[in-house]
Amino acid sequence: MDKIIVKGGPALHGEVKVSGAKNAALPILASSLLGDGTSTYRNVPDLVDCATMLKVLNTMGCEAERLTGRQKSVCQVMVGPHITPEAPYELVKTMRASVLVLGPLVARYGRARVSMPGGCAIGARPIDQHLKGLKALGAEITLTEGYVEARAKKLKGGTVNFDLITVTGTENVMMAAVLAKGRTVLENCAREPEVEELARVLNKMGARIEGAGTSVITIDGVDSLRPVEHTILPDRIEAGTLLVAAAISGGDVLVKPAVPEHLEPVVLKLREAGCVITPQEGGLRCKAPKILQPVNVTTTEHPGFPTDMQAQLMVLMCVANGTSVISENIFENRFMHVAELHRMGADITIQGPTAVVKGVKKLSGAPVMATDLRASASLILAGLRAEGRTDVARVYHLDRGYERLERKLRGLGADIRRVKA
Ligand code: EPU
Repeated sequence: MDKIIVKGGPALHGEVKVSGAKNAALPILASSLLGDGTSTYRNVPDLVDCATMLKVLNTMGCEAERLTGRQKSVCQVMVGPHITPEAPYELVKTMRASVLVLGPLVARYGRARVSMPGGCAIGARPIDQHLKGLKALGAEITLTEGYVEARAKKLKGGTVNFDLITVTGTENVMMAAVLAKGRTVLENCAREPEVEELARVLNKMGARIEGAGTSVITIDGVDSLRPVEHTILPDRIEAGTLLVAAAISGGDVLVKPAVPEHLEPVVLKLREAGCVITPQEGGLRCKAPKILQPVNVTTTEHPGFPTDMQAQLMVLMCVANGTSVISENIFENRFMHVAELHRMGADITIQGPTAVVKGVKKLSGAPVMATDLRASASLILAGLRAEGRTDVARVYHLDRGYERLERKLRGLGADIRRVKA
């Protein structure tokens, strides 16, 4: 199992390239099931999670592959006439987002059998809202032997008011509704840029979706969809993580490409912390201040501060000049990085969903363990600033969502390498 070794100290400088967005690529790959033929997606990040989604599609009988060489960021999915609409436990247990095939399968094939995702390190993460939405469109849902089975001869448009805001829930039901008969109105939807991106792709395939990116999405069902070619938007969370890398190392880095509007909540907090952030050449440049100021943050759904940036911002606040209060409102157990940060000398107290972070003069390198994707990124960020050497173990979490983060950081001057443990 690989580990990453970081020696803290160097201020990062230069320009770094952001990969395509994981959380847009996953639903978009799943959406290929909605139309016969070959879809081509560019700028698909080379991540374990994307490979898992390709496996899920192949298991069903699609021909899904990543091209090689210079075309490595291109994925093609061929959907033929023989599809087994089933996602097995062995794959779903390794990636919850596999559940995104549920909506397309029931809409297109009238039947889906998908292993029920369990909880994960950051929370229980039920899928009741996905199921509520599919039921409202007329699907009959049963749970047997750990699998969700959804059946419907033909889905029918309906109104769904989500009880809470869910990103993949909105995406799953939106993908089901595009082939339903009549009009569907989804209320209290997630407004994340990745939901909007999925709608953009579905509309290119021939769907009729309006309002994606707002809390009400209206979908007029169509009879069939065609395959598509699409370039995936840049990953706002990877971009945010790299901006924090610049800030925590005392550096000056241009992170591109990046869509400034997608990163607004993150940029506002980094500016409050004293960073100078300017849009430049289709990206964002972050210049670190001499002294970082504390900031208070509450994670909420987009356009609020993203939970996927909470761990990274917390690390930055560990070395700020004062006390910050960070509240996690989306997942009930997303502070697991705190215990590891304590080992590096951080001063953090957890009170329920809130962490009180007192800035310390220095962090010191230590062996630490990644517990989930964003937590692992935060430990690497801590290592960039810490005195001495930090060994981050269990980096398979990192590889699910960051394309060779250590290479990108090394390109900016970090002393970081990956070794086989
Ligand atoms: N929830 C329910 N019932 C549901 C669905 C969600 O109670 O049916 C709860 C969840 O337990 C959670 C909250 O609602 O407390 C929000 O969850 P959401 O459904 O929005 O999360 P998700 O769709 O499973 C996506 C991202 C996550 C990101 C969250 C929140 C993908 C593939 N995953 O997950 O990304 O943290 O939205 O923004 O899009 C990551 O990339 O590291 C990651 C975890």
